[in-house]
Amino acid sequence: MAKTKPKLHQSKNPIAENVRASNVALLQKHLATAVDITYQTKQAHWNVKGMNFIAVHKLFDELHEVTEEFVDTIAERLTALGGQAHGTVQAASENTVLEPYPLDLVNSEDHLRQLSEAYARWNAEVEKGIEEASESGDPLTEDLLTEVGRGLDKSLYFLESHFQS
Ligand SMILES: [Fe+2]
Repeated sequence: MAKTKPKLHQSKNPIAENVRASNVALLQKHLATAVDITYQTKQAHWNVKGMNFIAVHKLFDELHEVTEEFVDTIAERLTALGGQAHGTVQAASENTVLEPYPLDLVNSEDHLRQLSEAYARWNAEVEKGIEEASESGDPLTEDLLTEVGRGLDKSLYFLESHFQS
């Protein structure tokens, strides 16, 4: 995805403006993906049926709550850097790194596998983002993405444990 540097709000934030601009663009992609996955987990929560119904129904809601926190943390880092958060569903659908969630999934294993794919995909992007933020000289954005990555690792472990043995 082409990354154009956004115009920033004036700020006395000590990080150089060009560094803030590139990290705002970086975070915009992660904000979109966080918004997307937040409702992918709800889609699974609402529609799952089959074995272990109540356990996975509750798990998907817990994953939703974790990603909802990420939405807010990412958006507020982005605005702290002087950016304008693009947090609507429409904006998210243009900027997300995830594949669209199939609307017809029912079976619990299908939802677990679909969400595993989504979490792994986002996590790979977060890893790249950690490096990018680090190289740009913005350790606080690097730290934020590291925290997100640690959360995604844990969620992926919760999902994949259903079909590992
Ligand atoms: Fe619910």
